[in-house]
Amino acid sequence: MASVSFGCAVDDAALGERIFQDGLGSDGRVAYEQGPSWLRHSASGCAACHGRDGEGRTVRAGAVVGSAPPLTAAALAARGYDEASLLAAITTGVDPLGRPLNTYMPRWHFTQREARALLHYLEHL
Ligand code: HEC
Repeated sequence: MASVSFGCAVDDAALGERIFQDGLGSDGRVAYEQGPSWLRHSASGCAACHGRDGEGRTVRAGAVVGSAPPLTAAALAARGYDEASLLAAITTGVDPLGRPLNTYMPRWHFTQREARALLHYLEHL
């Protein structure tokens, strides 16, 4: 895949991938609120729940079983997401219909560059 470097240590394509797979942003671990307690001790990002290819999977927290939906570009478009609503869901936990997502889904804190890199990565899943 072609990638453009803006002279940063990690280019945007690599940054998007490591946020998604490992939860690592430009400056170490990406901060977030909510989400399950085990996530703090894991070295994983979105992939821990949504799968390494964004295929979605069933997730557990003790007795609670939930579903982390697929995040492929096609799946997100089918659910009515555009760039703005996708970023809103990821950072504030509200879906395009204004419904709050389950608290198992962390609310992530990204810099503008991290957000752009992650959205770009999701476009290619
Ligand atoms: C600890 C597990 C977990 C992690 C880590 C996680 N998610 Fe989620 N995510 C979920 C669950 C569970 C849902 C479903 C919530 C609901 O249906 O209320 C969800 C929902 C979503 C949705 C809404 C999908 C839809 O169909 O409306 C998006 C978008 C999303 N996650 C993106 C991400 C991204 C991007 C990351 C990484 C930066 C991430 N998630 C990390 C568990 C997780």
